[in-house]
Amino acid sequence: MIEVMNEPKIAPMPVTSAEPLRRVGPPPPGEQPALLIEHATKRFVVGRKKKAVIAVNDVSISIRRGEIYGILGANGSGKSTLIRLVSTLLTLEAGRVAVLGHDIEREEMAVKRLINRVSVDAAFFKKLSPHENLAYAARLYGLDAKEARAEAIRILARLGIGEKRLSRPVEQMSRGMQQKVAIARALLTSPTVLLLDEPTTGLDPRSKLDVQAFVEEVRDTHDATIVLTTHDLAEADRLCDRIALINDGRLVAEGTPDELKSMVARDHGAEPSLESVFMTFTGKSLDEDIGDNDNEDDE
Ligand SMILES: Nc1ncnc2c1ncn2[C@@H]1O[C@H](COP(=O)(O)OP(=O)(O)O)[C@@H](O)[C@H]1O
Ligand SMILES: [Mg+2]
Repeated sequence: MIEVMNEPKIAPMPVTSAEPLRRVGPPPPGEQPALLIEHATKRFVVGRKKKAVIAVNDVSISIRRGEIYGILGANGSGKSTLIRLVSTLLTLEAGRVAVLGHDIEREEMAVKRLINRVSVDAAFFKKLSPHENLAYAARLYGLDAKEARAEAIRILARLGIGEKRLSRPVEQMSRGMQQKVAIARALLTSPTVLLLDEPTTGLDPRSKLDVQAFVEEVRDTHDATIVLTTHDLAEADRLCDRIALINDGRLVAEGTPDELKSMVARDHGAEPSLESVFMTFTGKSLDEDIGDNDNEDDE
């Protein structure tokens, strides 16, 4: 099943030819954040004993337009829950979220038009080609078929997917390529905020770099704000303008990769690396509890 995140909408993709803006740091006073999360909290009650798990615990984040913002945390730390709250797939228990000033509860439809989400288990019709998958998504989103077709070809060509591969089944593509097609599909709706939940998990190192480069390109060419979750320190370091470190549902540190590194070096006498940032703020190593399946790709 393809997840439908957006209301029908016909809009050409805003492609900027000017030098990409790099905006780092929290929005200055007076500037409307692309995404504002204030005291977001979500609890799940599970099991017969009705034990509550606080998946997201009083998290506040403010993201500027054009940023690539990373949510870094171990498995089970609450990353996907936070993304699902923002994409209105789950409801907040406390706190509030606004996308470009639109409150996600009061103006849910407006918010749905501004965001799109790609999850790690990107849903495809595996027997269909990338082209058919994008055409299907375009119909779901209510886009003009001709315009969407041209757009799909343009995006897929930029991904290095030639005409020949466009019409072969998705299942014959590498996982890295599938992930890029999933991101391309989300771009059809010209989202202002693109939510990528673990876009490179399970990819081999080369496909990982490939998808990371594509994410940067998307930010630069689509005037998009990108929020991505990851448990890959090198990815967060390389790709993200700012990083929020989350541990057991709580935001425990936030800053640019350089700020975080100098902070642990200065305050804790630790080595200025993201590894030691993670260790300092969570008390554990990311490698300990992550079984990274880095060699699964079939490219
Ligand atoms: N639908 C759900 N029902 C019950 N518990 C959930 C649900 N979704 C997530 N959780 C729990 O919330 C916590 C955070 O999960 P998740 O947001 O998926 O973390 P991450 O994406 O960082 O791996 C975990 O303890 C997980 O078991
Ligand atoms: Mg997750």
